[in-house]
Amino acid sequence: MKGVILAGGLGSRLLPLTKITNKHLLPVYDKPMIYYPIQSLVDAGINEIVIVTGGHYAGDFLNLLGNGKSFGLKRINYAYQEGEGGIADALRLAREFTGDDKIAVILGDNILENTIKPFVDAFKAQAKGAKILLKEVHDPQRFGVAEVDKSGKVLSIEEKPKNPKSNLAVIGVYMYDSNVYDIIATLKPSGRGELEITDVNNAYLKQGTLTSDTISGWWTDAGTFPSLYRASRLVAEHVEPELKEKWF
Ligand code: G1P
Repeated sequence: MKGVILAGGLGSRLLPLTKITNKHLLPVYDKPMIYYPIQSLVDAGINEIVIVTGGHYAGDFLNLLGNGKSFGLKRINYAYQEGEGGIADALRLAREFTGDDKIAVILGDNILENTIKPFVDAFKAQAKGAKILLKEVHDPQRFGVAEVDKSGKVLSIEEKPKNPKSNLAVIGVYMYDSNVYDIIATLKPSGRGELEITDVNNAYLKQGTLTSDTISGWWTDAGTFPSLYRASRLVAEHVEPELKEKWF
């Protein structure tokens, strides 16, 4: 299985911080943001990854990460997304690198407390299709939201709904078979002019090959000022638990 980190976009929700660097290179407590998704993939046993970036300062990823050796990676590739086509459009660029392999995709601004290894291992054993991961949140309107039945089966996924059907966010970690690229080729841009990852997941749902799991531990994105601040604080308290007592 290969890993894909999506680290494009202009980071406009974080201006002026993103005027002089790429969002995914901003600090989250003591490390650049992109370190966390890389570590999540490495901890899951994935050692070949492609980073899809775009926008400004893309060259700085190479300066920072080099050949990925310091993370224990066997191979790190880079792809460049032109324009602002959305998450699914960025994923399209990984095709050449991942070929017929299954993939674990992680958004470059998603940070998790716990390992995703059990879910990656479960997906390796899944014959085909896709797997999404869910987490209860208090502000589901900001995310893709899954409606699930009593047995935990996903019934629908909506992108940033005004009236969410649940408080289960679809986090930015997705597992796909190589069919994903054919699905992306059928997508039409959404209202915000982007190819949406939620439409990819709904296509698998329609095929009946989408599975889901709910993660334990905290999870956050870091693409807005409150979530970037929250991410730093969660990481700080995780690596130095005594800090919990010291905040003022
Ligand atoms: C994206 C996805 C959304 C998902 C979220 C996780 O949102 O579109 O479905 O829940 O990432 O971080 P965005 O960060 O582009 O607003």
